[in-house]
Parts: sequence; C-alpha cells; structure tokens
Amino acid sequence: MKGNEYSHTPVLLEEVLDGLALQPEGIYVDATFGRGGHSLAILQRLNQKGRLFIFDKDPAAITYAKQLASEDQRITVIHASFCELEKYIGEYDKLGEISGILFDLGMSSPQLDDAERGFSFSRDGELDMRMNTSSGPSAAEWINKAKQDEIIRVLREYGEERFARRIASKIVECRAEKEITRTGQLSELIVSALPFREKEKHPATRSFQAIRIFINNELDELRLALEQTNKVLGTGGRLAVISFHSLEDRIVKRFMREQSLGDNFPPDLPVTVDQLQPHMKLIGRAVKPSADEIYRNPRARSAVLRCAEKLAA
Ligand SMILES: C[S@@+](CC[C@H](N)C(=O)[O-])C[C@H]1O[C@@H](n2cnc3c(N)ncnc32)[C@H](O)[C@@H]1O
Repeated sequence: MKGNEYSHTPVLLEEVLDGLALQPEGIYVDATFGRGGHSLAILQRLNQKGRLFIFDKDPAAITYAKQLASEDQRITVIHASFCELEKYIGEYDKLGEISGILFDLGMSSPQLDDAERGFSFSRDGELDMRMNTSSGPSAAEWINKAKQDEIIRVLREYGEERFARRIASKIVECRAEKEITRTGQLSELIVSALPFREKEKHPATRSFQAIRIFINNELDELRLALEQTNKVLGTGGRLAVISFHSLEDRIVKRFMREQSLGDNFPPDLPVTVDQLQPHMKLIGRAVKPSADEIYRNPRARSAVLRCAEKLAA
C-alpha cells in the first residue's frame, strides 16, 4: 500500500491463520483492519471466490482499507465499530455464512506513534484518544469536565490503578488552574501524583489505558460484538480474538467458555448435560507470542490469542 507513513506489524500472524483454518472460497471478517497486516495474509490465501469484510472505527485505517479495496474486488470496507457486525453483515445478506472473524483488539502502531492521536504518554500531542476521531468526546473534553468520583472509577475499573484517588484529585486541582489539553501535561501530572516509580512501567501506563478504554467504550463494544458472532458465523466458522490486557482477555475467555458449555438454563430447571446445546467448541488453548516474536516486535508481548469454532445449531 502506498503512503503508509506509520506501519503496524501483525501479531501472532501464523497462529491467527491456523486458528481461522482458512478456506480459499470462504467469507471472512477482519473486524479490526488497522493497517491490514492480517487482512493481506488472509487475502493471499483466498481464491477469487473468497471475500473479506473489513471493519475499523478509525478514519485513517479506513483510508488504507479503501485503497486496498480499490485494487481488489473481494474486499468490502465498512467504517463502523465491530459492535455493529450483525447489522452490516445482515445488510449484505451474509448472516450465518461467515467462515471466520478476527478481532485484533486495542490500538494499532500508527495510532500510538502519531502523537497527535493523543494515545501516547511518551509523545506529547493533543489529548484526544478517540479511535473514531469523528465521533464522541475526546479525552481532553472528558477529563476537564468529569466529576472526581467518575475519574476515580474509570482509573480503577479500566486501569486497575491503586492510586486512582490521588491521581483524580491532582487532575481536579490542576484543571482548576489550567485546562488539560496535552498528553505530556497529563502524563507529568500523573507522575507527580504517584508516591513512587515502578521499575518496569511508566507511571502513566495504567491511567492512559483506563482513559482510552473509557473514551472508546472498548469493553462494552467487545461484549456486544462477541454476542453477535453466533449469528454471523456459519457452522464450522472460526472466531479468533487477540487481546492485549487482562480485562479484554477475561471477557473473551468467559464468552468462549459459556458458548462451549451451552444454553444457560435457570439453575433449578432439571436438564441433563446432553440437553445443553453448546454453540461453539474451543480450538486449542490460549496462544502467546514466542520469545522470538517478542524480540522482533516488543508490542506483541502482552498478546493472547483465543479461538473457537461455531457448531451446528
Ligand atoms: C491492533 S490494531 C489491528 C491491527 C491489524 N490487525 C493489522 O495487522 O494491521 C486494532 C485496530 O482496531 C480498531 N478498533 C478498535 N476498536 C474497534 C471497534 N470497536 N470497532 C472497529 N475497529 C476498532 C482500531 O482503530 C485499530 O485500527
């Protein structure tokens, strides 16, 4: 692709392709296109009858996806959140016909590397953090207006930050003096609120993660999307999800386990195990990147891939 100023190295690529058990004539969904590393590898394995639906929230990712689609008619590009999966796949009349769906969650390297997207605590830029820059409040809009208690909740719930109270109080104190508009400003303020520095982690890591998850409604959208995969996948269709932190992975693990156990009857209803109808079966165990992959691409270090297969109804 031309003009790719910032690139993204796809994580667990071979493992994803194995997990999706690609069929050359299959119809696939890349729910998180990014810069298309996984999409390109999927397309290479599809024949001319195969098809790929691409989703991404980020307008910059969609520009690249459209460029790719202009050269390959097997591709359909959808600028939307993956939580609208069922709606869009339904519009193309493909519900129950999808052979595989990939979610590669979190941020792409271009989002992180471009300071002006506001995701990075180590590169100063406007405090934005929206994946879809054309919708919803930015991190700056939120942080300058949010109640102190809400900031504490967000930092605790999505960042598991034990100093949430101190950081929130510092934010409220500083914004009374001067609006918080830059990532560097927020990062410095967090550092000054913490009683000590950890060796391995930048002090703002957890807070930035928390604010990003909140601003993009990441966990709710993931839950919503996973619930729709059952209607979207055909029998034998594969679901592959790469998570980058424990909050995401917990949701994915739980969803796949529930699907593999079957219908959720009230506990007092007398049903036998064979009356429970599992909707999916688990494929292998959770897969993590090898030491070699982490060496080549340190951003892969926290990745976890889980796969499941849709069973006949
Ligand atoms: C880790 S990157 C994907 C990288 C991609 N697999 C590649 O190889 O280039 C995650 C992408 O998912 C997108 N994204 C995150 N949440 C989304 C959502 N709810 N709906 C659609 N796209 C989303 C982000 O904008 C980002 O481009």
